Amino acid sequence: MGVFLSKLLKKAAKKRPYCAAVVPAAGSARRMEGVDKLGAQLGGKPVLARTLEALEACPLIDEIVVVTREEQIPAIGELCRSYGIKKLKCVVRGGADRAESVELGLREISPEAELAAVHDGARPFVSQRLLEEVLTTAARTGAAVPAVPVKDTIKEAEDNLVERTLDRSRLWAVQTPQVIQADLLLGALKHCREKGVSITDDCSAVEAMGMAVTLTRGEYENIKITTPIDLAFGEAILKCQQD
Ligand code: C5P
Repeated sequence: MGVFLSKLLKKAAKKRPYCAAVVPAAGSARRMEGVDKLGAQLGGKPVLARTLEALEACPLIDEIVVVTREEQIPAIGELCRSYGIKKLKCVVRGGADRAESVELGLREISPEAELAAVHDGARPFVSQRLLEEVLTTAARTGAAVPAVPVKDTIKEAEDNLVERTLDRSRLWAVQTPQVIQADLLLGALKHCREKGVSITDDCSAVEAMGMAVTLTRGEYENIKITTPIDLAFGEAILKCQQD
């Protein structure tokens, strides 16, 4: 058999990487004015149930670890049973910030997991198109994240005084899932924690270690339910999807 053909066959036979989704859902809902954003209903279904259903439906995701506040662990287990989340591996206690919650979740994924897809529990509108693109890109490059061009002009300011206006044509708003080689991400998050580096997304932990991160096509609908008005936006997105 020619070398070319044998290489081609090997490539075709290479299995896709095993992927574990880690879902941080341990936030305090401080910006939700007391509303439990993950338990809040969108079109008659809890936000977190919608998020988990999207991950369950994606054939490139093999297992799901949900990270939540300790007192919510039994309720989240029940929610997964009611909504048929069969890929659930476990529900674990979160930490003081998102990065710590992700680190605690990563410690629970299967040893065979090559990729970790970290997806905010509060992003229920992630599409199958977006998932497929970010997961297949990360399988090729080691780290990928969906992003959309920033619509507003962004300024840096201190005490309400503008210091700098950033070049909008180079700015991207990143979303989740952020898909990264699982062992590298765990090491990078641990490194940031030990060095006291504060991060608000997963990629910045591996970027800090010099790893290249590829942007894939995000979607403006892939919103994070953060403030009460986002629930109203969410209902509007559902309506558009149903029309
Ligand atoms: O705080 P932020 O909006 O970045 O939260 C994004 C996601 O991280 C939410 O789904 C939230 O529940 C989760 N989170 C967490 N543990 C924390 C803080 C936030 O799992 N301590």
